[in-house]
Amino acid sequence: MEPKQPDSWTWWKHGVIYHIYPRSFFDSNGDGIGDIRGIISKLDYISDLGVDGIWLSPVFLSPNADFGYDVSDYRSIDPCYGTMDDFNLLIEKAHEHSLSVILDMILNHTSTEHPWFQESASSRFNSKRHWYIWRDGYNGGPPNNWKSSVGGSAWELDERSGQYYYHSFFKEQPDLNWRNPMLPQVFFDELKFWLDKGVDGFRLDVINLIVKDKKFRDNPYLFGLPFFQKHVFTRNRRKSLKIVMEIRKQIDQYKDRVLVGEIYTMPPGNSEIAASYLADGKGIHMAFDFSLIFRSWSARNYYKCIRDWYTNIPEQGWPCNVLSNHDLFRSIDRFPWRRNKEEKARVAAALLLTIKGTPFIYYGEEIGMRNTKIGYSDIKDPLGKRFRPFFTGRDKARTPMQWNSGMHGGFTTGQPWLPVNSDSVTRNVEDYKVDQSSLLNFYKNLINIRKENTALQQGRWVALITGRNGILAYARILNDERIVVVLNFTARKKKISLPEHSFGNVLFSTHRNAEDIFYFQALRIYPFEVSIYKA
Ligand code: GLC
Repeated sequence: MEPKQPDSWTWWKHGVIYHIYPRSFFDSNGDGIGDIRGIISKLDYISDLGVDGIWLSPVFLSPNADFGYDVSDYRSIDPCYGTMDDFNLLIEKAHEHSLSVILDMILNHTSTEHPWFQESASSRFNSKRHWYIWRDGYNGGPPNNWKSSVGGSAWELDERSGQYYYHSFFKEQPDLNWRNPMLPQVFFDELKFWLDKGVDGFRLDVINLIVKDKKFRDNPYLFGLPFFQKHVFTRNRRKSLKIVMEIRKQIDQYKDRVLVGEIYTMPPGNSEIAASYLADGKGIHMAFDFSLIFRSWSARNYYKCIRDWYTNIPEQGWPCNVLSNHDLFRSIDRFPWRRNKEEKARVAAALLLTIKGTPFIYYGEEIGMRNTKIGYSDIKDPLGKRFRPFFTGRDKARTPMQWNSGMHGGFTTGQPWLPVNSDSVTRNVEDYKVDQSSLLNFYKNLINIRKENTALQQGRWVALITGRNGILAYARILNDERIVVVLNFTARKKKISLPEHSFGNVLFSTHRNAEDIFYFQALRIYPFEVSIYKA
C-alpha cells in the first residue's frame, strides 16, 4: 500500500516505540522502585536511541495485586511512581524530546478497591451494581463453567449479597460490564482526562476480552492447557469490536492520538483475530498479535508468520510488530540453544526494524537483557506465586534496567524490588554505549537507517527469499526507492541469488562495509549475517 497523503504519516506509523515497565526502569528516590522522575532523568538516553514514543505500563493508583493492572483510581498516579506534578512534567519533557507518551489503559477490569466496585458490591440495589458482572449461582456452585485466565473459576462468591462476580484474571480484578450502556461514557471521561493533559495515546489492555456472552453460555471443553476450556463465550464477542469503534471515534476528536490494543490469544497467536480489531481503519490503529513471539526460530517460520500478518491486515489498517513485553520471557532467551544468542538477537532486531509496521522495543531488549533467575522467595508476580514451582511467573523479564556495572546495575541506591541480573557487570548501557560493536549501537544504527530511508517506514513489503535454506530476504519499496534486506537465520554460510534485483550498495551490515556495492546474482552470505542494501 503506497501512502495516500504524506501528512497521513503520523508519528505512530513511521516511528519506533519504546515500552517502559516503570517499576524497573530507573529509581530516582532510592526506595527500590522505578518512578516517573526516574524516567524523566533517562529521556536523553531514550531519545538518543532514536525512538519516537514511549509506552508506560500502568502508573495509576493500584493496590498492585497485579502490579498496576488492577487500578483503583484511573485519575491518580500511584505514589510509588510519584505525583501528578511528576507526570505533567514527564509529558512536558517527553514532548520537548520529541517523544510521544502512550499510557496503558485497562478497560476490562478494575481493582476490587476501586470505589466503583466498592459501591457495586455494597448492595444488589446500588446504582453501580451493573457496572460489574454479577450473577446468581447455579446448583449451589458458580453461575457457569467460565474459567479465569489465571486458573480456577472466573466467579467469586460475595458472601454479603450471595451473588458471584466475574473476573477474567485474579479475583482482585473484577470485570466491568461493558454491556451496560453507561460504561462507554464513563470511560470516555477517564480517557479525556489524560488526553487533555497531552497524552498521545493508549495501549488498551486485553481489549478483546471486554464483552462476554449475554446468555452466559458455558464455554466448550478443550483438551489441554491452559485450563481445559475454549474461551468462545468470554473473548472476541462481536460487541467488543463495536465498543472499540466507539472509543476510536472519541479519540479521533483529538489530533494525532493513537490506540494500540493487546489482543489476548493463546499460543500460537492469531493474526486474523488481532487484525479484525483494526476494523479497516475504524477500530484500534494498531493491534498486538504475538504469533511471531510464539514461533520457533527459523527463517521459514518467521516468513510464514509475517506473510499471514500482512494478509490479514485490512487495507486501511497498519501493522505493529513486537518481540517481547512484560508478560513474556526475554526474547533473547526464547531463541533456541545456548550458542549464538546474541547473533540471533541481531537478526531478530533487524527484522523487527525493517519489516513493515511500527516496531515496539521492550526496555532492555536493546542491550540484550536476559531472563533473570528469581529465587523462590523473591517471586513477586501473582502468577508465579500461584503456579510455582511449575511456572515461576513473569518477574524474570521485569527485572531492573541495567544502567551500569555498579551496585544493582545503577538502577537504585536502595534495595531493588526485584534482583538485578548479575550479568549487569558486563551487560549495561554505560559500557555498551562506548562499545561500537555492542547490541545497543546495533539498535541505534538500525533505527537511524530506518529514519533516513522512508521506504523502510512506509514501503510495501515484498518477499524475495521465503525462508528456504535459512535465509529470509525481502524488499521494501516506495515509489523509486528500493531497500533489500537479507537475513541469515543460521550459523552456516550460504549462497543466494536475487534475480529481481541486479545490485545494491550496503546501507548497513554485520559483515560488509558501508557503501560497497554487491551484485545479487551470486551473493555469499555469512553466518547470521544482517545486510541492508539500497537497490
Ligand atoms: C494484560 C497485561 C498483563 C496483566 C493482564 C491482566 O495481559 O499485559 O500484565 O496481568 O492483562 O490485566
